[in-house]
Amino acid sequence: MEKFVINGGKPLKGEVNISGAKNVALKIFVASLLTNDELIIHNVPHIRDVFLLLEVLEHLGSKVIVNEHTIRIRSNHIHKTLVPLEVGARLRTSSLVLGPLLVRYGEATIPNPGGCRIGIRPIDRHIEALRQMGATIEYHSEDGYFYAKAPSLHGTTVTFPKNTHTGTETLILAGVLAKGKTVLKNAAEEVEVDDLISCLIRMGARISRPAPRTIVIEGVEKLHGTEYSIMPDRNEEVTFAIAAAITGGDVLVHSSQRNNLVAFHDVFTKAGGIVIEEDTSITRYKAGKKLLATDVVTEPHPGFMTDWQAPWAVLMTQADGKSTIHETVFESRFSYVRQLNKMGANISFFDPKVPNPTEFYNFNWQDRVEGYHQAILITGPTKLHNAILEMEDLRAGATLVLAALKAEGESSILKVEQIDRGYEKIEERLRGLGARISRVREDFA
Ligand code: EPZ
Repeated sequence: MEKFVINGGKPLKGEVNISGAKNVALKIFVASLLTNDELIIHNVPHIRDVFLLLEVLEHLGSKVIVNEHTIRIRSNHIHKTLVPLEVGARLRTSSLVLGPLLVRYGEATIPNPGGCRIGIRPIDRHIEALRQMGATIEYHSEDGYFYAKAPSLHGTTVTFPKNTHTGTETLILAGVLAKGKTVLKNAAEEVEVDDLISCLIRMGARISRPAPRTIVIEGVEKLHGTEYSIMPDRNEEVTFAIAAAITGGDVLVHSSQRNNLVAFHDVFTKAGGIVIEEDTSITRYKAGKKLLATDVVTEPHPGFMTDWQAPWAVLMTQADGKSTIHETVFESRFSYVRQLNKMGANISFFDPKVPNPTEFYNFNWQDRVEGYHQAILITGPTKLHNAILEMEDLRAGATLVLAALKAEGESSILKVEQIDRGYEKIEERLRGLGARISRVREDFA
């Protein structure tokens, strides 16, 4: 077990490069199952989830070669179509092999990926849509596996009941080799989905977005290999922007993508943060004179992403006034609040009145757990002091690092493997900006 030891209170200044997007790399790896040719993928972040998924693919029979930030995958000898339970439990995204295995091999057995730190996260929307394409899928609660079979998947029109980022990707990964045309309605608009689409088109797939929230896939006989470079990670850029603002610093971000961060820049500047366009892919983030309390409501793209709300919360603890965060995508994504309050933040929970919660919230309303809340009220500014903290999930982990960088004194943050899931060498990159942070082995934990 390892922990971070952080001495806060120092403004972060300097330059940082944004890594490739975790939530694109994982799906393009899965896309390698759709062809016998080699896929060469560049700008892959060295993070735990990447290596976990590569292990899953190797378990199925893929050949993987890692060379720095380039991964070569060839899946021409797939000899297994079952993902072991313990693997699925550690990596939800492994359930995404369902579509490609079904459409290429006619069968797949995957663990129910539901249940993680930010909610029950079922895949009912994925399963229901694949059934409409001709798959028979049974869930056996006694062993926790989905057993899927499909002699041949056929195109159809699927209307998702609510937004689903990876559900949309599952159907794209199945539709590209299905017989006929698949039309997805109420499909996800996250830009990471478009990066997967671009890679699949390079592999010979026929995919288009003819209208908002609509994706049309014309099934083809075969897909071929390609070489593809992954887009930068939006969540990383947001994290470094907030790190600059909260520490009173000035950070130059390379591989920046302002056009994909409009919803973030809107609230960041409203709150007093400064965004300077230095070049097409270089953005400077600075603290303004004063941080102003600014409310956010999380939404699927093009709204303020749910992945950004935890880092945003810690920024708002330093803002002047009362601000709220209303989380509408996941049903329990405030695990960091208790720990921020332990550091001196003043955050309370509440449930906004919404006219039709079953429609309004992106999660399944019946999945709500008693005692969880959908919004927090942050009163600032409050002085944050050091503490012994523990990471519960990836984005909450980044939030605790940001809080410790702001707090006076020495903080320790345990279970840093959570942040290693999504941020490559985060402590080295923060040190490069002047942060006093070190990774220490935690023997007894
Ligand atoms: C993806 O999760 C991302 N993960 C998440 O990032 C991101 O927060 C989320 O999309 C929203 O953009 C990956 O891409 C690997 P959803 P996903 O399907 O696809 C419920 C991170 O930190 N739902 O859009 O699981 C679901 O429980 C991660 O990188 C169902 O009920 O999100 C959630 O409450 C965290 N049934 C909501 O809908 C379903 O079949 C949105 O889920 C599917 C989803």
